[in-house]
Amino acid sequence: MNYIGIDLGTSAVKLLLMQQDGRILKIVNKEYPISFPKPGWSQQEPEDWYRETIAGIKELLEGSDKNQVAGISFGGQMHGLVVLDEKDQVIRPAILWNDGRTAEESDYLNREIGRETLSEYTANISFAGFTASKVLWMKKHEPELFAKINKLMLPKDYLAYRLSGTHCTDVSDASGTLFFDVKNRCWSQEMCDICGIEKSWLPKVYESSEAVGTLKPELAAELGVSEHVVVAAGAGDNAAAAVGTGTVGDGACNISLGTSGTVFISSEKFGVDQHNALHSFDHADGSYHLMGCMLSAASCNKWWMDEIIGTKEYAKEQEGIQKLGENHVYFLPYLMGERSPHNDPDARGTFIGLSMDSTRSDMTQAVLEGVAFALRDSLEVAKSLGIQITRTKICGGGAKSPLWRKIVANVLNIKVDVLENEEGPALGGAMLAAVACGDYKSVAEAAETIVKIKETIEPEPELAALYEKRYQQFKKIYPACKQLFSSMKENMSH
Ligand code: XUL
Repeated sequence: MNYIGIDLGTSAVKLLLMQQDGRILKIVNKEYPISFPKPGWSQQEPEDWYRETIAGIKELLEGSDKNQVAGISFGGQMHGLVVLDEKDQVIRPAILWNDGRTAEESDYLNREIGRETLSEYTANISFAGFTASKVLWMKKHEPELFAKINKLMLPKDYLAYRLSGTHCTDVSDASGTLFFDVKNRCWSQEMCDICGIEKSWLPKVYESSEAVGTLKPELAAELGVSEHVVVAAGAGDNAAAAVGTGTVGDGACNISLGTSGTVFISSEKFGVDQHNALHSFDHADGSYHLMGCMLSAASCNKWWMDEIIGTKEYAKEQEGIQKLGENHVYFLPYLMGERSPHNDPDARGTFIGLSMDSTRSDMTQAVLEGVAFALRDSLEVAKSLGIQITRTKICGGGAKSPLWRKIVANVLNIKVDVLENEEGPALGGAMLAAVACGDYKSVAEAAETIVKIKETIEPEPELAALYEKRYQQFKKIYPACKQLFSSMKENMSH
């Protein structure tokens, strides 16, 4: 049988058709717009997601035996707020994971309700991108729209609803709402009360590889597939990427270099770090994970290449980079503020250390290195918890660059396993569907059978030592700029 994995990303939806044995038959990408109505805001239309997903499924299945399709599942951008009225109509554009408008609401939760209380109920504190502060923002700034809310859901759950008619979510994605009790894998009544929402607004929670229903008959007919096609809950994109890269089992690590950058550490035991600097979420394999998330990773390179240098030739631009470990230029990659570990929506991107002999190539290199240093910040938090990571998988658009992979291996001083298929969340989605349909007994069994390592990048001791020195320098830049960032924001709002 065949399975469709849908990765509902920030710039595009990626659809992947996988055979039962893990072979990828076809991949289709469909883009949609993102709007930044004000600095630090970020929104998308759920209807765009749905339209492009349906068009994408049709294109994906062209030329293949449609009767072979047995299941569909998802990896989806996390934390986004999708609100529906009592007729299940979308009330306003979705407010996305990298939207920083809710700094005030997030501060209120952390300060007035208190980090300890939040952490006790949900295993996490509030971050501006998390869903709960978005709901509080709507309550304050859009009271008429807030009064119409009948359902809250996450981006991929909206697709699952349109495909199957079921209001559902999964444990990994629910973990990023701050309405969810991660330890016990259920909604938190306390958090509903604190935020003044009805528990009935929240969808039913499933494990990621559970079936939530089947395709709506009219949609199955439109797509030319059986109406018995199973729709499985799926996972937040990072947990789905972890499945797709075989990051299951205690201490397994995956780094995603996508629009966001994440360090994902799978864990059999539930745990939180002392300052909640890392997210403590449920994993799609039935266990838990810790995760550091930076808001701009490959998007920093894309911004630098497309908007500033004005080139689409990313690989060619990187060819000029010769002196790894010796750059005098540093870059803070906080173009959309930063989540882990600083939790500072006001932070901004910065080049520092420029001199008359600095070159375009130094700056390109600084962008790639700045992202790697910021990933290391999250890894350092994990280390402080006694978690020793010695190797990681890698996926996401940025992971296609051999140079960037080498920089990551040496800045983090760990081995980086490159996989035969780097399709992370889309492959993970298809694998979750295959588990839901019973082709694999568990997510772990699917991962073991399907995911294959192609190459391992070993850190080079000399280069890692040079990067160690530079990282110690990098670490000092954000604290030195922090006050400046917040006063720059005050000036901008006058
Ligand atoms: C994770 C996060 C991002 C988005 C990107 O906490 O906010 O990785 O899921 O799609």
